[in-house]
Amino acid sequence: MEQHRYSQIADQIQQQIRDGIYKAEDKLPSVRVLAKQQQASVSTILSAYGLLEDRDVIEVRPKSGYYVRRVVNKQPESPSITQETSSPEQVTTPQLVMEVMRESSSPHLISFGAAVPASDFPVINQLKRIFAQKVRTEPFLGIGYDANKGNEPLRRQLARRAVDAGVFVSPNEIVVAEGCQAAVGLCLRALTKPGDIVAVETPSYYGLLQLIEALGLKVIEIPSNAEQGMSIEALKLAFEQWPINIVLSIPCFSNPVGALMPDENKKALLELIYQYEIPLIEDDIYGDLGYEAQRPKAVKSFDTKGQVLLCSSVSKTLEPQLGIGWVLPGKYLKLIEYQKFLSSTGSFRLPQMAVAEMLAGGGYDRHLRMAREAYRQRRDRLADLISQHFPQGTRMSSPQGGFVAWIQLPKAVNATQLYKEAQSHKILIAPGEIFSSDPKKYPHSIRISYANSWTPEREAAIQTLGNLAKQQL
Ligand SMILES: Cc1ncc(COP(=O)(O)O)c(C=O)c1O
Repeated sequence: MEQHRYSQIADQIQQQIRDGIYKAEDKLPSVRVLAKQQQASVSTILSAYGLLEDRDVIEVRPKSGYYVRRVVNKQPESPSITQETSSPEQVTTPQLVMEVMRESSSPHLISFGAAVPASDFPVINQLKRIFAQKVRTEPFLGIGYDANKGNEPLRRQLARRAVDAGVFVSPNEIVVAEGCQAAVGLCLRALTKPGDIVAVETPSYYGLLQLIEALGLKVIEIPSNAEQGMSIEALKLAFEQWPINIVLSIPCFSNPVGALMPDENKKALLELIYQYEIPLIEDDIYGDLGYEAQRPKAVKSFDTKGQVLLCSSVSKTLEPQLGIGWVLPGKYLKLIEYQKFLSSTGSFRLPQMAVAEMLAGGGYDRHLRMAREAYRQRRDRLADLISQHFPQGTRMSSPQGGFVAWIQLPKAVNATQLYKEAQSHKILIAPGEIFSSDPKKYPHSIRISYANSWTPEREAAIQTLGNLAKQQL
């Protein structure tokens, strides 16, 4: 009976470590305190801690106590992703992109594939309550078209929230869209024509690359760095060489790397677009999800000429199903409004009003605080698991916000093969080839989305991935 009890206690503590309640290097409760909490004997607790030591989960430090082990003592190194700037290319349409998107919603796969926020935060229930209340109290049908720019109470809240990113706009300077992708689509349609050249950082989110392709545009991929994002030096050289028409960047916690562009680089980026008199589309979808207390400033916050079109949505902070994004188009407001009118005339008010109410209350800030901390802990756990199970020489980016990381495997490992083998083990990852217009650019990299909480099943899936990668060596 006592023996059963100590392994139960050990399992509970291990689960708390998986959940990030105790992180690597954290001190665990003393034997006496835990004995009291668990109403167990000191020897039972000593046995539980002994079992966790045997499992390599914790370690004892003489005269100090028990600590959570960092399995491999250092974080994986950041990937080195700087590449040559390529010439402008037509993006090919890999079927793989659609497969990753389709499979992401499969309940039969353990998904590290699509960048979908965790669904276990209380905010989801809060949203449900707001929806139910709005359905009872607000008229939604038989009232004709709402404002073309989107619901006014929502735009008011978005204007209020933009201040966090250092951006001051009036609600009239905001256009609501059906998501961030739709918002970027409005900007590209309004400001480019087929054959124009779009500069993007590489690797870059496949949805944006596919959008560029679908509009008949060419893409020029600018090298980036795992910590700082798009290289300003490389962009400068690309401007000297090619007639770039527009820049599209994810400066705050890029997808797939999680890089955060420093403020000096944001300002230097602005100087360049001013010099060449072209617009910048700033995709700020992860900007609210930084792990530091201070939210990073948007490039738009430094823009004095109205040349930045900031696009975002609630797809990463709340839920993609809401279908709510927006553009702050600066001096291109009229063009974007017209594109909005062309793309959709009637949009449903209910989600817009529900999100407006969500943003107005303190619940959204509480949710962000919780989500940022949870994602930070989940990133740390992923780093531990990668160190523990992946082949030597594997590198992982260290995102300071958001919930996707870029993993660079040793050169002997083919990422697309790993993706296929993982699928046969019911595990979904995103292979590197879909993050560039050149499918051969990232043959040894994968993107892992770590939004969901760590469970034994998800941890085992990372171990399986590591084993599959090792088998290719
Ligand atoms: C950088 C980036 N932009 C845009 C999107 C698409 O956003 P939405 O679902 O709001 O259209 C995503 C989704 O993964 C993304 O990561």
